[in-house]
Amino acid sequence: MSVEPSPDCPICVRLHDFIAGWRLKEPGWHNAPVPTFLPVEGPDSVRLLIVGLAPGLRGANRTGRPFTGDYAGDLLYGTLDEFGFSRGKFAARPDDGLELIGAAITNAVRCVPPENKPVGGEISNCRRFLTPTIGRFGRLRAIVTLGTIAHQSTVRAMARPVARHPFSHGGQSDIGSVRLFSSYHCSRYNTNTGRLTEQMFRSVFANVRDYLDGIENDA
Ligand code: URA
Repeated sequence: MSVEPSPDCPICVRLHDFIAGWRLKEPGWHNAPVPTFLPVEGPDSVRLLIVGLAPGLRGANRTGRPFTGDYAGDLLYGTLDEFGFSRGKFAARPDDGLELIGAAITNAVRCVPPENKPVGGEISNCRRFLTPTIGRFGRLRAIVTLGTIAHQSTVRAMARPVARHPFSHGGQSDIGSVRLFSSYHCSRYNTNTGRLTEQMFRSVFANVRDYLDGIENDA
């Protein structure tokens, strides 16, 4: 099974057409499915996977790297740095030299959707990439899901019923040897409305750090 869609993936007609329109308007942009961001040490070093919703139009869809170029990324990469999941300085560009440490970042839907809203069929279509993405990391022990859609698609990708693993901010749930940590999405909308504060977001990653460090110390 392929872990990444082809650059011209035709599976979701609406998303394919949306991207085709942006290729004409902004030929210098990435305008294609956004691949998973991996650490330089390779997939076998990944113990934490972060699953976002879908590329932002002027963020990942423009730059080609998940969460790069929009507000959601500023909060996410700042938090990853704080808890030791990255090295180097994040400068919102794919060539900023930022490296992930033991972590990877992907999206439940790899193509930018109109108004940031993928429809159900697109979410399930793209699970054919999410499932093998989760499966490729042999040492994976934690997943952070950002928002309900990413959470539910991840649970389904892991072949579990969502009713047994419901989304809640700060919630934790074990699937096999992987612990799922769920968080409200770090979008500007959620922080502007006060649904998610920086402190709430940091506390999810503090829990992940403690959990992973605990496993390391037990080993
Ligand atoms: N950028 C991404 O890559 N994913 C999101 O969910 C939001 C912004």
